[in-house]
Amino acid sequence: MSTFLVTGGAGFIGGNFLHIMTKKHPEDRYVCLDALTYAGNMETLEPIMGLSNFRFVKGDIRDREIVYKLFEEEKFDYVINFAAESHVDRSIVNPTIFLETNIIGTSVLMDACRKYGIKRYHQVSTDEVYGDLPIDRPDLFFTETTPLHTSSPYSASKASADLLVLAYHRTFNLPCTISRCSNNYGPYQFPEKLIPLMIQKALRNEKLPVYGDGKNVRDWLYVGDHCEGIDLIVRNGRDGEIYNIGGHNERSNLEVVTTILNALGKDDSLIEHVKDRAGHDRRYAIDPTKIETELGWKPTYNFDTGIKTTIEWNLQNQEWLSHVESGEYQNWMKKHYGE
Ligand code: NAD
Ligand code: TYD
Repeated sequence: MSTFLVTGGAGFIGGNFLHIMTKKHPEDRYVCLDALTYAGNMETLEPIMGLSNFRFVKGDIRDREIVYKLFEEEKFDYVINFAAESHVDRSIVNPTIFLETNIIGTSVLMDACRKYGIKRYHQVSTDEVYGDLPIDRPDLFFTETTPLHTSSPYSASKASADLLVLAYHRTFNLPCTISRCSNNYGPYQFPEKLIPLMIQKALRNEKLPVYGDGKNVRDWLYVGDHCEGIDLIVRNGRDGEIYNIGGHNERSNLEVVTTILNALGKDDSLIEHVKDRAGHDRRYAIDPTKIETELGWKPTYNFDTGIKTTIEWNLQNQEWLSHVESGEYQNWMKKHYGE
């Protein structure tokens, strides 16, 4: 039996990770630490709140006192850090909070790991640390040795955190791993990101705002496949190593948006080209050879099956979405536990 600290578990990927892993590993205990920022939603965790191998703690990874107290109480074996500010557009408006949570928060967690001892610290990172690839070179992919070359304050903060993790590994012998995944989609994604935003807008017959020419390419991975990859790395990966995660599902933004419109029986005339994002990365594409060959990881969804499942989930969970859109989800703690 092992005890896992999962930070940022009230968010999209951390939430999916907890849903899957609390059931897959009933012998293990999962403690979620989450500050419940705008992106953290207790309604996402509702289905697992009653499980005996799950505990939720509200707290900020930058808060050394809370973090150290929790480590002292729980004696964690593993720490998986999902907590982050994660939206590129928000990082363009306000970079500072990205530096504070994504870099300083990471250092606080790793200091706690050093102080109390752990079997492994895992940093959930992103392929955005590699910058972008040209659209006219489909033969090029990000490997784990591709140089870091960031474009946005978000990706710069994630790359900084990655470097800090590698520094703690080398200087303090902190046992650690890093995963760098491509764009995720699936259940419980906050409708500010491309896929859930476009589904919601299409359902309401609102215009779908596509940045620039819409030819930017992302490499889409179903969230459950990402979570399984992280679980494999944490349990079987090698210390100090970086693992890319991606399933070769490149699509242009226009392809994604028209797929959603077609699935919902809506017209392409809803597409509206709007001003491009500043510093907009052109193409992301992952080479997952290392995690496939070393750890036997294989995705179970391709884009066609994953997007179908995701659209279906969004259609069946309009209440979750409407609470996010109205801000109602932020009252969950008060409603359930009082002040
Ligand atoms: P998200 O924005 O949906 O969730 C982030 C969670 O972190 C929220 O629950 C939020 O409340 C919490 N949080 C934020 N600041 C915190 C703090 N200071 N202390 C404690 N909790 C805090 O993000 P996501 O899409 O689930 O991404 C999770 C991780 O995966 C991030 O590290 C992100 O960089 C990485 N990632 C995301 C993608 C993607 O496509 N979404 C792809 C690759 C990697
Ligand atoms: P996003 O989901 O924000 O993820 P990331 O920027 O981390 O890749 O955006 C995915 C792609 O969709 C990206 O190229 C920007 C584009 N996009 C739009 O065209 N319109 C939108 O309203 C949003 C949110 C994103």
